[in-house]
Amino acid sequence: MKRITKAVFPVAGLGTRFLPATKASPKEMLPVVDKPIIQYAAEEAIAAGIDELIFVTGRHKRSIEDHFDKAYELEVELSAKGKSNLLNIVRNVLPNNVSCVYIRQAEALGLGHAVLRAKQVVGGDAFAVILADDLIRGEPSALKQMIDLHAKHGCSVIGVQNVAREETLHYGIVQVTPMEPGVSRMEAIVEKPAPDKAPSTLAVVGRYILTPTIFAQLEKVQAGAGGEIQLSDAIGALLKHETILAYEFTGKRYDCGSKFGYLQATVEYALEHPDLKNKFRSYIKDLKL
Ligand code: G1P
Repeated sequence: MKRITKAVFPVAGLGTRFLPATKASPKEMLPVVDKPIIQYAAEEAIAAGIDELIFVTGRHKRSIEDHFDKAYELEVELSAKGKSNLLNIVRNVLPNNVSCVYIRQAEALGLGHAVLRAKQVVGGDAFAVILADDLIRGEPSALKQMIDLHAKHGCSVIGVQNVAREETLHYGIVQVTPMEPGVSRMEAIVEKPAPDKAPSTLAVVGRYILTPTIFAQLEKVQAGAGGEIQLSDAIGALLKHETILAYEFTGKRYDCGSKFGYLQATVEYALEHPDLKNKFRSYIKDLKL
């Protein structure tokens, strides 16, 4: 089976939940401690063996391109000042073997529409989709676990997690038949069902390994929940032709698309950060609430 080498990052969303912070800069560039959210996603992909990062961007997202590009002036300045640690950090945002492709999604018509924009660049191989908003901490990473499962079964693998029933209206929800611990065969998928209509509480989170046959389905699906072209609807249509696995990865997920999840990630990553953890831990302990 061919190794998965391409990951699609849909990053054209407006990030309205973080206004005004996201008025002039992309939500994917919000930092969790000292790295932008999108860099965590890129690092997860690279650690899982991916070497082509395909960003589906929109207007006002130029700083994502700049972040993954060479920063000549900054490098010259840091080098002149002998700041070699910082220079390394700036230079190592991406390893040399990794390339980036940027595709513009002119209109934000939904996640399915964004993924379809990557069709030509992805070509005929299975590929990953990563939603950077879902920051997942795990070793090995959620994506690596899913790539390994794909290598074993050869089919699409969708990352899922149990959520509270009242939360189903924020997610794609799957109906499954369990196969082995953590691995199920997907039977159906519904985008953002009301809690009383949801077929289960297993929610799709932002990690997908998809076979390229998804593109034919994406070309056919009509606007669904919220009037958007939904990736979940194309996955549902693909189910009629292929086996798709739902996988409950191990790892902790932070919903950085919400302020609360973003704050949780910030606190927990700070508590692990080598330069900060001791000072921050005692600060949190002594905080009078
Ligand atoms: C998207 C998907 C949804 C999935 C969610 C995970 O929704 O459409 O199926 O459960 O990401 O974060 P969004 O959060 O973009 O509305």
